[in-house]
Amino acid sequence: MNKNIAVIRGDGIGPEIVNQAIKVLDKVAKIYGHTFTYTDVDMGGCAIDKYGDPLPENELKKCLSSDSVLLGAVGGDKWNDVPGDKRPEKGLLRLRAGMGVYSNNRPAKIWKQLASASPLKDSIVDKGIDFIIVRELIGGIYFGEHKTEGDTATDVLKYSESEIERIGKIAFETARKRGKRLCSVEKSNVLDSSRLWKKVMHRLADEYPDVELSDMLVDNCAMQIVKNPSQFDVIVTENMFGDILSDEASMITGSIGMIPSSSLGETSLGLYEPIHGSAPDIAGTDTANPMGTILSAAMMLRYSFDMEQEACAIENAVSQILDEGYRTADIMPQSEEEAKKCQKIGCSKAGELIASKIK
Ligand code: IPM
Ligand code: MG
Repeated sequence: MNKNIAVIRGDGIGPEIVNQAIKVLDKVAKIYGHTFTYTDVDMGGCAIDKYGDPLPENELKKCLSSDSVLLGAVGGDKWNDVPGDKRPEKGLLRLRAGMGVYSNNRPAKIWKQLASASPLKDSIVDKGIDFIIVRELIGGIYFGEHKTEGDTATDVLKYSESEIERIGKIAFETARKRGKRLCSVEKSNVLDSSRLWKKVMHRLADEYPDVELSDMLVDNCAMQIVKNPSQFDVIVTENMFGDILSDEASMITGSIGMIPSSSLGETSLGLYEPIHGSAPDIAGTDTANPMGTILSAAMMLRYSFDMEQEACAIENAVSQILDEGYRTADIMPQSEEEAKKCQKIGCSKAGELIASKIK
């Protein structure tokens, strides 16, 4: 197959990690007989520096006319004083909205090789951590009106039934293909938007009698994720709650550097990005973990290009280098004794090794 991939390297460690994903994709193309071509897209701080705009219209157009988009990370302290509507993150939000990718899938799965990197007790980790957060991505407080007037600032959190329904359907479908348990997370003891969320989820439940729906308040969910993560199969939640809970969920699996994500709307055009940020403090030092990005590329092959075998080949290659004891700095074991059995590698070595294991 021929596929054109829009590539957004972005800021901070973005270029380094995306370059590793491209090494791996090129190896997949070679072995499986595909052609992947890449179109560079400027977004984030680097686009502000170049065009004074975090996502110029023409850059968005390149993404819309591609077969899928691979993104590293955007943002950094350098652009902290830029006004809110021109910040690097605004480019990302415009991209998500422009692509219509309302459904963000963030897996929290512990790699058996990294169990000791989890900050949770063994007794909790041993019960297993394997759930998915389905996060609504283009609505809610991120996209409501933002304004500052005098000494008062306002951000509007707004959801319509149809916005909740379309993400709800994706979540029920996701649960149906897994453990058939869906937990809808909201704050219905306080927020109207959450009461509407809950109502729509329960209405949808009638269409999915094989999926067991439960409700949880977001504060309780934050606690349950560290207390008893094995209870979760699929969590569905609104944009900001999903942002916060997915960082928490990633950390209990060992490192945020390992977690990929996919974002999809009504078509196969998807946006694939690791869930971590641009880590400007380590940019250019070749120490970042590229695995979240490489695993995001695997998700792209699976969900946008229907290349299941190729996606598995990438995931197996990652698993294999972990088996062999290779670790980037963020996933090095804490104990000296465990660390002795591992070999610390940099970002580009990790990419090379993973590419070399593609079969
Ligand atoms: C994420 C990030 C973004 C978000 C930022 C960079 C705008 O934290 O993808 O989780 O809040 O969605
Ligand atoms: Mg986040």
